[in-house]
Amino acid sequence: MTTGTMHARASARANIALAKYWGKTDLEHNVPAVPSISLTLDQLVTETEVCFVEQLESDVVMLDGRTTTAREARRAIAMLNRVRQAAGIQWKATVTSSNHFPTAAGLASSASGFAALAVACTRAAGLELDLEALSALARQSSASAARSVFGGFVELPAGKPGESSLTARQIAPQRHWDVRLVLALTATGPKSVGSTDAMERSRRTSPYYQAWVDHAPRWAVAIKQAIRDRNLTALGAAMEHSTIAFHSCAMTSDPRILYWNPATVAALHTVTGLRDRGVPAWSTMDAGPHVKVLCEAPDAARVQRALQRTPGVLETRIARPGPGIEVLS
Ligand code: DP6
Repeated sequence: MTTGTMHARASARANIALAKYWGKTDLEHNVPAVPSISLTLDQLVTETEVCFVEQLESDVVMLDGRTTTAREARRAIAMLNRVRQAAGIQWKATVTSSNHFPTAAGLASSASGFAALAVACTRAAGLELDLEALSALARQSSASAARSVFGGFVELPAGKPGESSLTARQIAPQRHWDVRLVLALTATGPKSVGSTDAMERSRRTSPYYQAWVDHAPRWAVAIKQAIRDRNLTALGAAMEHSTIAFHSCAMTSDPRILYWNPATVAALHTVTGLRDRGVPAWSTMDAGPHVKVLCEAPDAARVQRALQRTPGVLETRIARPGPGIEVLS
């Protein structure tokens, strides 16, 4: 007897938020409470293969060569279930995903992971979704993943409770502005608290949360305009505010969430020092201790050298604007 299989392979790249998402208005549908804007990067690629197998008894999710725990697999299986329902199939699947960068170290692997999974599993199930529908599907698993569906500069609006079709959209393609993002890694291993749990703790307990939700849209508006104008100073200033504001929410949560380590602080000072010496460079951070520095292409090597010399910085990489999802087979 032959076993039926249906498979597809896709890739997606990480994105770094320039205007940060932190907090949800609807936990069940994973709807963000604030608008966010990101840059998809050329490096930091996730490749994912999904294979629906007729005689498989349960879903198997492999990440970087190992079988994931039930907790890790939960969100991937929830996406498979949505896709099976839409496609009218029952078959279980194997998901094989590999990251070409450190997993769960604050380099947004869930964004590229769920964007790649959305493409691979819908294709494998025989569904041909457009980019908006793929983005909405990815968002339900991880809001930042909605942005990785698109290349270049991307926005994800805030949504209302129950807005299950909320989708990201491209503001400008990758060729619009040849900036660089220099990544300074300041720790190894997974972050202390995952972003999903951390932002929910902020919403429930931080006295600064409502102020964050009230202010975040202004930074997003400024950042969108700065992208259109290719104005690095305006973008950088709003991006740094957005970053510090959401980290303030995290730090003032109960129990507190402190992602920073001494090298994080040192790297932030390195960036200020570069600006004092006339190099336009601006920092951002995600839910982890690493520092990411936005600058113009001709300054990237100098920014990288300064970060590499910063005490506690373990590794640096230079990333460029990158494309959205790709179907590989
Ligand atoms: C700090 O997208 O990982 O990186 O929707 O719960 O999966 P979930 O959260 P996630 O949060 C990313 C938070 C951030 C900022 C950002 O990327 O906008």
